[in-house]
Amino acid sequence: MAFVTRQFVRSISSSSSASASAKKIMVKHVTVIGGGLMGAGIAQVAAATGHTVVLVDQTEDILEKSKKGIENSLRKVAKKKFAENPKASDEFVEKTMSSISISTDAASVVHSTDLVVEAIVENLKVKQELFQRLDKFTAEHTIFASNTSSLQITSIANATTRQDRFAGLHFFNPVPLMKLVEVIKTPMTSQKTFESLMDFSKTLGKHPVSCKDTPGFIVNRLLVPYLLEAVRLHERGEASKEDIDTAMKLGAGYPMGPFELLDYVGLDTTKFILDGWHEMDAKNPLFQPSSSLNKLVAEKKLGKKTGEGYYKYK
Ligand SMILES: NC(=O)c1ccc[n+]([C@@H]2O[C@H](COP(=O)([O-])OP(=O)(O)OC[C@H]3O[C@@H](n4cnc5c(N)ncnc54)[C@H](O)[C@@H]3O)[C@@H](O)[C@H]2O)c1
Repeated sequence: MAFVTRQFVRSISSSSSASASAKKIMVKHVTVIGGGLMGAGIAQVAAATGHTVVLVDQTEDILEKSKKGIENSLRKVAKKKFAENPKASDEFVEKTMSSISISTDAASVVHSTDLVVEAIVENLKVKQELFQRLDKFTAEHTIFASNTSSLQITSIANATTRQDRFAGLHFFNPVPLMKLVEVIKTPMTSQKTFESLMDFSKTLGKHPVSCKDTPGFIVNRLLVPYLLEAVRLHERGEASKEDIDTAMKLGAGYPMGPFELLDYVGLDTTKFILDGWHEMDAKNPLFQPSSSLNKLVAEKKLGKKTGEGYYKYK
C-alpha cells in the first residue's frame, strides 16, 4: 500500500511538474543587445553553456572588439578548466565562439530568438525606444529582459505590448565570474516568464534570486547606501579612506573596502544611480548627494577606468 501510494504521489508530482515545465520557455537562442562590458560577458556565458547567441551593437567595429574580448576571456576560463588538456581547451574556445554571431541590426535577428537581453546605455528613453521597435519584429513567445542597474523595469516594459513577457535580468560584473543574477518580476510579469528566466539563469551556472521591481533591487539597494555612508564618514573627517577600507576588509571580512569598490565600479555609475534615486525620493537621507563624489565626477576622475578616482592608479 505504502509502495502504491508512493508510486501514485510520484506519478502525480512528475506529471504536474512536467506540465508546469511544458508551459515554461526553454531558452536556446539568445539575442544580447549591447556588446559592452556586460553584454559581452552575458554573450560569453550564454554561448559557453550551449546557447546560440547573436550579439548586437551599433557598429561592426565595436562588435569585433567585443568578440576579441570574449575570446580572450574564454581562453583564460578554458585554460583553467582544461589545465591538463590544451587540445580540449582550444576546442572549447572554438566551439563557444562558433555559437556567437554578430549583427548591427537587432530588428533583423530577433524574429527567431527565445530571449532578448538588453545591456545598452543606462538611459530610460533609449531603452524604451529599442524595445518598442523590437516588439514589432519579435516572435510571440519571446521574452524581453533588461540588465538595467537602476531604472524601473516596469517603465521600460510599458513601452512594449508584452509586459507579461518582460522582466529584469540583472547580472554582475564581471559576468563570467560573478555567480549572482537578480530576476526582477514586475506586477505584469507572468509566472511563466519569471520561471523561464530562473531556469535560464541556472543553465548559465548562475544562482538566481528574485526581487520585485524596487529601486536597486537587492544588491544595489543595500550596497549603494553603504558606499555613500563610507564617503560621508570620510567627508566629515571622521576617518581616512585608507582606514575605512582597511576596517571593512579586516573587520567585516569584505574583499574590497568601500573606496576601492567605488573606484572599481566607476564613480559616474554610482553617481548616476544615486542621482536617480534622489530625484525619485529627495527626502530619503540615504539618497542624498555627496560633494566629493560630485567633484570627482565633474573632474572626470571616475575611478580605475580613468586612472584616478578616490585613489590614483598607474
Ligand atoms: N557595468 C556594470 O558594472 C553593470 C552591472 C550590472 C548592470 N549594468 C547595466 O548594464 C547595461 C550596460 O552596461 P555596460 O557597463 O555594459 O555599458 P557599456 O557602455 O560597456 O556598453 C554598452 C554598449 O551598448 C551599446 N549601445 C548603446 N546603445 C545601443 C543601441 N541602441 N543598440 C545597440 N547597442 C547599443 C554601446 O555601443 C556599448 O557597446 C546598463 O544598463 C548598466 O546599468 C552594468
